[in-house]
Amino acid sequence: MSLSSFQLSSARAWPAGASSLSDPDTVGDDPGLRQQLLRDTVTQILSAPVYDVSIETPLQPAARLTAALGNQVLLKREDLQPVFSFKIRGAYTKVSRLSAEARARGVVTASAGNHAQGLALAAQKLGIVAVIVMPVSTPAIKVHGVRSRGAQVLLHGDAFPEALAFALALAEERGLNFVPPYDDPAVIAGQGTVGVEVLRQHSGQLDAIFVPVGGGGLIAGIAAYVKYLRPDIRVIGVEPEDSNCLQQALAAGKRVVLPKVGTFADGVAVAQIGAHNFALCRHWVDEVITVSTDETCAALRDIFNDTRSITEPSGALAVAGLKKYVAREQCRDQVLVAINSGANINFDSLGYVIERAGLQGLSD
Ligand SMILES: Cc1ncc(COP(=O)(O)O)c(C=O)c1O
Repeated sequence: MSLSSFQLSSARAWPAGASSLSDPDTVGDDPGLRQQLLRDTVTQILSAPVYDVSIETPLQPAARLTAALGNQVLLKREDLQPVFSFKIRGAYTKVSRLSAEARARGVVTASAGNHAQGLALAAQKLGIVAVIVMPVSTPAIKVHGVRSRGAQVLLHGDAFPEALAFALALAEERGLNFVPPYDDPAVIAGQGTVGVEVLRQHSGQLDAIFVPVGGGGLIAGIAAYVKYLRPDIRVIGVEPEDSNCLQQALAAGKRVVLPKVGTFADGVAVAQIGAHNFALCRHWVDEVITVSTDETCAALRDIFNDTRSITEPSGALAVAGLKKYVAREQCRDQVLVAINSGANINFDSLGYVIERAGLQGLSD
């Protein structure tokens, strides 16, 4: 596969995963295939073995946000996972489903972020070789985070696209299994277990779930499970204004490649929604709300005020979208869930976050 075939920009546009529930491009608008894909995805979610390596995270009431917004706000604390993000769920599910023969060859990916740490831990747990290609500019703290979980780190290329090309070449050369960060049915199934937990943890009135979107692994899994069981609950994606690949794909009715992608919320800086992801999202996601950098920073502050925890920008997007939704709808007494998806933020960037949050005024 050549670099150009992925239409790589400064951000990520990933190749589709190797395994397939059903070919995502053939699902289209066929109601029968759509239902089959939904059922297959739910079946895979329910058998995802995530608790070998991740925890059932709390669904925590956010008292201050609840009071300020006049709606009950619950935070799904995925920032409390062992790798400080939900990504371990999908990475582990994918790797654990490889055959013994494939596992013996090892796994490879390219990532400077949460997928790298998730895959490293998944491979360590299963005792298999993991090679993670990271751009040479990756902060030492992240390189260390991956190495400390036993993965081999190869620093290659100035930017992400070169690291990805190198990882794919390695997969080809050494027979390693490339583990995609989102565009894969097993990865989607693992992330979907977040939805299972939300419905189990809160069985009463639940009006909407807000989910940050990068390549769409998390939202595809959550939307599939939630819509299968509780179609009355709205599933709402949240993207940065300058990185809205799902919103644009839904508007166009097909996947589009963003020519340029903002990188402040680095976990969701993706140029094109995944193919398997879009096949689910186009039918089961109700809408996408976009938020600015300042709104994201203000949400980070709101989460801190309620939990005394810091999330990363991508991890705060859902709360930012939830606040915007309440302001737009002027709703009251609804039950709203936001997925706090991760906490891998460089301490040094907190000064910038605080400054930008200040521009949004106080939430209380
Ligand atoms: C913290 C965080 N939130 C959200 C996302 C978006 O997840 P997805 O790519 O499955 O949409 C990511 C992806 O890496 C992430 O690291």
